[in-house]
Amino acid sequence: MFLMRLDKYISECGAASRREIKLIVKSGRISVDGIVATAPEMKLDAEKAVVRLDGTILKYEKYHYFMLNKPEGVLSATDDGKQKTVLDLFPPELRRLKLFPVGRLDKDTTGLLLITDDGDFAHKVISPKSGIVKTYHAVTEGTVTAEDTAAFEQGIVLADGTKCLPAELEILPDGSCLVKVMEGKYHQVKRMLAACGKPVKALKRIKIGGLELDKSLKAGEFSALSQEQLCRVMMGK
Ligand code: URA
Repeated sequence: MFLMRLDKYISECGAASRREIKLIVKSGRISVDGIVATAPEMKLDAEKAVVRLDGTILKYEKYHYFMLNKPEGVLSATDDGKQKTVLDLFPPELRRLKLFPVGRLDKDTTGLLLITDDGDFAHKVISPKSGIVKTYHAVTEGTVTAEDTAAFEQGIVLADGTKCLPAELEILPDGSCLVKVMEGKYHQVKRMLAACGKPVKALKRIKIGGLELDKSLKAGEFSALSQEQLCRVMMGK
């Protein structure tokens, strides 16, 4: 049994703000196990209770997982006094879940960014020990070569002497490339390609583990991950 206040339950479902919840409950729009609820402070079993808003079931999830198609010019942070962050792309009822980005993409990097409130999940995805591969599409100045691919396989040594883990570099027919890394060092992909004399002009993350960026998401749009998508993050190393 996992006892929880009704207003907290509704709030954690991202259905409404705390202030709205009070009104919604008071106006008899919420039912718990088929009985109209009138007290926002009533306790219920979050694992078993069937809570409905205007007849539609509100399903409680302990943690929340989203994929965002990160646009350019937005910081991978929860909050910034001056600049727009990825969390600013989420509505207030979801921001209340204390969401944060799983790792960071540079301000000018676009593409797949996971957003969650599950710290253990985030740690697993980021940690090189988990072996979860992150795939990037890069457009560079100068075309990457077979020698660059070999250097990636060996483990690139960055300009400051840091040695990277072996990584994959695939040359695409149009001269751009795919980079697959397990680490997430600061500016890693840009610095790896710069070490080969191929500065990056544009960088987009297209895949994490076995989860691909949903092509139907426009820049700045996000979607909730299904259970199957969530599993895919951990697979397809
Ligand atoms: N590597 C980079 O250089 N930048 C990113 O945003 C992600 C990986």
